[in-house]
Amino acid sequence: MQAEEAKQRIAELTAELNQHNYNYYQVDAPTISDFEFDQLLKQLQDLEAKFPEFADQLSPTKRVGGDITKKFETVEHRYPMLSLGNSYNREDLTDFDERVQKLAGRAVEYVCELKYDGVAIGIHYKNGKLERAVTRGDGSKGDDITANVKTIRSIPLQLLGIGYPDDFEIRGEIFYPLSVFSRINEERERDEEPLLANPRNAASGTLKMQDSSVVASRQLDSYLYYILGEGKVAEQHFETLDLARKWGFKSPPKEKNMIAKCNSIDEIFEFIDFWEIHRNELDFEIDGIVIKVNDYHLQEELGYTAKSPRWAIAYKYKTAQVSTLLNEITYQVGRTGAITPVANLQPVLLAGTTVKRASLHNADQIEKLDVREGDTVLVEKGGEIIPKIVGVDLNKRPADSQPNAYITHCPECLSALNRIEGEAQHYCPNVWSCPPQIKGKMAHFISRKAMDIDGLGEETIQQLYEAGLINNISDIYELTKDQLLPLERMAEKSANNLLDGVEASKKIPFERVLFAIGIRFVGETVAKKLAKHFKSIQSIQQATFEELIAVDEIGDKIAESVKHFFQEDKNKELIDSLIDKGLQFEVVEDDNIGSTAILQGASFVVSGVFEKFSRDELKKAIELNGGKNVGSLSAKTNYLIAGDKMGPAKKEKAEDLGIKIISEDDFIQLIH
Ligand code: IVH
Repeated sequence: MQAEEAKQRIAELTAELNQHNYNYYQVDAPTISDFEFDQLLKQLQDLEAKFPEFADQLSPTKRVGGDITKKFETVEHRYPMLSLGNSYNREDLTDFDERVQKLAGRAVEYVCELKYDGVAIGIHYKNGKLERAVTRGDGSKGDDITANVKTIRSIPLQLLGIGYPDDFEIRGEIFYPLSVFSRINEERERDEEPLLANPRNAASGTLKMQDSSVVASRQLDSYLYYILGEGKVAEQHFETLDLARKWGFKSPPKEKNMIAKCNSIDEIFEFIDFWEIHRNELDFEIDGIVIKVNDYHLQEELGYTAKSPRWAIAYKYKTAQVSTLLNEITYQVGRTGAITPVANLQPVLLAGTTVKRASLHNADQIEKLDVREGDTVLVEKGGEIIPKIVGVDLNKRPADSQPNAYITHCPECLSALNRIEGEAQHYCPNVWSCPPQIKGKMAHFISRKAMDIDGLGEETIQQLYEAGLINNISDIYELTKDQLLPLERMAEKSANNLLDGVEASKKIPFERVLFAIGIRFVGETVAKKLAKHFKSIQSIQQATFEELIAVDEIGDKIAESVKHFFQEDKNKELIDSLIDKGLQFEVVEDDNIGSTAILQGASFVVSGVFEKFSRDELKKAIELNGGKNVGSLSAKTNYLIAGDKMGPAKKEKAEDLGIKIISEDDFIQLIH
């Protein structure tokens, strides 16, 4: 394909993909299948790889992220990010309406919207292109989190249609869909990573991650609800948001009653009542309703107090609560030995679901609330998947009630429990022989994101453990067909399958093996970071605490846990044994962690002296990103990376051959 043709096809594909993205995320009416979408995206990726000079910074292929932000820059908001006056009762709203009407001297039209419980964001667009995204911060200054925001698919990189202002800011809220949030927490629970407290904090944490490709994998979503200043393209707020939808923003759809014009206080109350009932059906959290004056002129007349607009007010819902009987407190033992107390409740309906259990977190929590078996407790459902107990009804406490005596011994293996200084959790120290810990470690090891062993599931692990065939993860690699066949539900085929799966797992790359061995606090992302940085288990083992915390996103807690892991002889023995079995404990060059295919098909000549890279480093970066290094210039060369002191003859030859001459910085741009 010729350059001109490629350029045009890239533009077409980009427009097509942007439209499909809009159909999918904004109007919820896709016209092609996911497969077809992926095919188009793949075509675009390939073309951009062959013709990187036409790859746009805002291409739909950039959604996968990859940009790293070491430190988020603080930037000043052009307009301060204000908050809203709150109200918790209907009188406050009636007062608000009366104030507004008095000033307007006439009946006023309002717009009611949902109050999204997420992270506020201001996004700046210039000539239809996403320029910058900034958090609220202290209201006058926030953090530039553009790289991360660009990975959120419901936020357009390039606006569609016509009529948008050249330069404007739109504000809204970024949040986790509840379905995504619960899935993340289910995975974390299984991996015994600390659970995320609620969707809002989780979204806020994700948006502050340094590695945007991690953010891209997290499926954050957004609603945008406020266009500022010069951005006004209509006389009214409602109409402006309607236009914003046409440009590709996810603004609230009126068809679903997520936004409505209201012409009286009663209509406002209706909207509030409607969502009080239906909020549980939404796949995101709201904490109330926002009521705004629709007309911009009247908004201006009403103006602002120091903190908030006089033309808008929030109505906050009360958190859903219910009281029920706590029948029994039981204790669970996880794969790392962590003990979690669980409240077993008299089943009760709360915010649309039946609640039977609530987490009590740890001994401190039980003591703080003084919850006891037989108490009537108040259960609340915030953003958490697992409801929490927020109080005890002392009037209903039985006369013979006794304070809860926290267990001192493991309910499974009877070992005396430990509590590490400064940690809330109790642990069963019997790491190597407490059954739920052994089984939990093996189940984690074979799980999908870890070794993903074909033919071996949690049930089989249970079965093999009970038959005395496996007692630690290394034993999995010693299983034989003769041992397997006598087991129930184990035919020749499933036995072969299992053994093949075990064999194949020896090729699983180091980063996943590192995650699979189950060092406490070393989740999937942390394992990737450690593998990429240290390259082998030996280097991780030898790393000092300081060397560990110098790695992105590795904090004190993780570093301590890693050090602690390698202090245990049994862990070292286990690793030696897994190395003997042939598992990957170092990064194989072929693994190419951090590699991309951005430069696939492009050939380079590197010449001269450079500031940021050595020549060898440049060549390595070319290969790592799929490009080819060639020794000398020819008609087939795509790029000459020119450094200082490059000879004039080379430059001339490149020019004659029509080869693109780029600087070191241009090259950095290419691969980002
Ligand atoms: S309008 C001048 N509309 O709630 C203020 N805000 O507690 C304009 N929020 O700062 C804000 N949903 O972060 C507006 N539909 C909505 C909202 C909303 C959530 C957030 C926003 C605001 C905060 C106030």
